[in-house]
Amino acid sequence: MPGDISAGDLAKKVIEWGADGVVSLSIADENALRDAVVKRLLKTVDIAMVGHTLGATSLAANKWDTKALLDRHGFDTPPGVLVDNDVLAGRGLAIPAYVDSILLQVADIGYPVISKPLWDCMGVGMVALSDETELLAHLAQPHHGNFILEKCATGEICSVEVVGAQGHYLVQPVVWQGPAEAGPVFNFGRLRYVTPREAEDRAFAPLAEKLKRLSRQLDIEGAIGLDMIYENGIYQILEINPRVTGTTVPCVAASGVNTYDCLLSILNGTWPAGIHREPAVERVCLQFPVRELSPAFVRDVTQELDVVRTQTLTIDETEYPNMIITCELGDRDTLPARLASLQQRHEFTDPALLAQISRVVGVADVSAKGAGN
Ligand SMILES: Nc1ncnc2c1ncn2[C@@H]1O[C@H](COP(=O)(O)OP(=O)(O)O)[C@@H](O)[C@H]1O
Ligand SMILES: [Mg+2]
Repeated sequence: MPGDISAGDLAKKVIEWGADGVVSLSIADENALRDAVVKRLLKTVDIAMVGHTLGATSLAANKWDTKALLDRHGFDTPPGVLVDNDVLAGRGLAIPAYVDSILLQVADIGYPVISKPLWDCMGVGMVALSDETELLAHLAQPHHGNFILEKCATGEICSVEVVGAQGHYLVQPVVWQGPAEAGPVFNFGRLRYVTPREAEDRAFAPLAEKLKRLSRQLDIEGAIGLDMIYENGIYQILEINPRVTGTTVPCVAASGVNTYDCLLSILNGTWPAGIHREPAVERVCLQFPVRELSPAFVRDVTQELDVVRTQTLTIDETEYPNMIITCELGDRDTLPARLASLQQRHEFTDPALLAQISRVVGVADVSAKGAGN
């Protein structure tokens, strides 16, 4: 189907195909919103569809509405200012003090701030602004739509998935993605990982309960993925994606609780019986970029490690080969040596990444002589 298919045409195709039921897996947020419309259309012909309500999807798909929602429910989220591009560009009512009002509000928040479009994903259109001069230049440029000026948070980027329906929600383990920077971080160039982290897990426990309450209040049906920045015991929520995300496979691999099974169980009416157990970090999961997925490397790595998936993602016409592996918690200390042996034969990744893996799984680095920390 064409990526820009309308909700009406999509519903028609589903009906013509004779589907018994539908699970929305669409990315990105604008397509999740389309699916929420499709769900309403299919309801009129009694085809069940797992997906959030139009109301919940709209709130999550738009970063400013999400921020207001999070504020209302007492979550931590970086402070921000909404910029109305119509006012900024002089369309409609003239508001002479508009730019001044933005400058003052941003000064109150404190620099640096990050400019974020309300829609879009993967950091598209985001830029960090370090002072008033940069902000003024940014405001003077043409913009495509409304945007947020949000305080840059420091700490570690991480994500979490919540899945469920009808009042029963599961919170998957947190997936870690390394330090935040002044600007958007391209996640597929980095190590993403799930591993037990005592202090961070303890700080997360009350947030997990709050997320379940929020999911109940929004009547979430399916999966949501939250992006966060963690520092000093506090998780600041950057956004809620109303759908499965890049976090789904790593957290499923670590917990053994399969989000996709949950979605099917919701569809076929067996939720939460059978699947409803609290996910926990049962094994370490690592996702990292590799130089190339040559047949010889894929053969050896599949024999020697627990490979969940090798895959090449194509983003803006560039290919990003990467792989996802797991490791039993009790075997963590053997992982660096096994990776080092593969590295010797295949030079499959950056030595610094192997050193990072050794650190995050909590064992001394044996692989990267001279690679530094
Ligand atoms: N307030 C912030 N402070 C620091 N980094 C941020 C902030 N907001 C976003 N980022 C960076 O930009 C990335 C994308 O932001 P996010 O809000 O998740 O939007 P999206 O994923 O939809 O593009 C984040 O993963 C993070 O690297
Ligand atoms: Mg994000």
